[in-house]
Amino acid sequence: MADGIAKKKGKSLTLNLFGRAKRDGHKIVVLTAYDLTSALIAARGGVDALLVGDSLGMVVLGYNSTLPVTVDDMVHHCRAVARAQTQVPIIADMPYGSFHVSPEQTVEHALRLVKEGGAHAVKIEGGRQRAEVIRALIDAEIPVMGHLGLTPQSVNRLGGYTVQGRDAATAQRLREDAQLLVDWGCFALVLECVPSSLASAITSAIKIPTIGIGAGAGCDGQVLVYHDMLGLFGGVKPKFVKQYAALGEAAQEAIAQYVAEVRSGDFPGTEHQYAEQIPDPLHGDGTAIGESGNGTIGSGTMGYLDDIESEKG
Ligand code: KIV
Repeated sequence: MADGIAKKKGKSLTLNLFGRAKRDGHKIVVLTAYDLTSALIAARGGVDALLVGDSLGMVVLGYNSTLPVTVDDMVHHCRAVARAQTQVPIIADMPYGSFHVSPEQTVEHALRLVKEGGAHAVKIEGGRQRAEVIRALIDAEIPVMGHLGLTPQSVNRLGGYTVQGRDAATAQRLREDAQLLVDWGCFALVLECVPSSLASAITSAIKIPTIGIGAGAGCDGQVLVYHDMLGLFGGVKPKFVKQYAALGEAAQEAIAQYVAEVRSGDFPGTEHQYAEQIPDPLHGDGTAIGESGNGTIGSGTMGYLDDIESEKG
């Protein structure tokens, strides 16, 4: 396995990892996360940064585009991700409408993501047309990740989710926009659904790292949507998604087994039931419920259960 970005035990990674990784030639691995559980799983899997993407509108909230997602939605989900205390940076998407306003209002929205949501940076879709707001964010000490190529918030203008930069004029515009984002001070750039040759050319030309999604192997890093790469949904799978697991199916099978066992009376078994006598907390076997649970975040079943005395076996 190729070397990843060095992580020191007990030390948090900062956004500096992006520049360092580009300089040292280490690939940057980003994954979306939307809540405590997905953040913990992603961080334990070793990702370098978490993106609270507005894709949550589609995979969590059930909308058919990202357009209805609000700043309140983003703050709510960022907070849940931040509570996981994963020690990797959290980047929050600026949702549609939150930066199509004055630079002052844009900064106010972004500050909510940082101050209330616990994000370390924001991501914003678009190039030259976002000059003023991106500059205002950076002036306000809010690190910005750019996003070019297929920008899902432009779905109505684009008429669908299609590969961008396939002809000379749009490819040139993307190259220029990428350089503008560098000049304004963005720390990284997502390239979504562009030909891999174009993504590679942009990656070599600019000094900040490119994070690709549907942009080929030449980018400095990759990002995927949590639900897509874990196979939590069946149905249509974009060409650029690799499903590393089929968790949706596995979960459905597990639930079907639970349903069958409750109906048949096989669950709960004796091992899942309490005896009448409560053990002596000092001398008896007062193991807390959730035997591996230690009351820390994500230790298993909800923390409060760890306070209830139980018995082993
Ligand atoms: O919202 C999101 O998850 C994203 C990634 C797909 C880059 O913007």
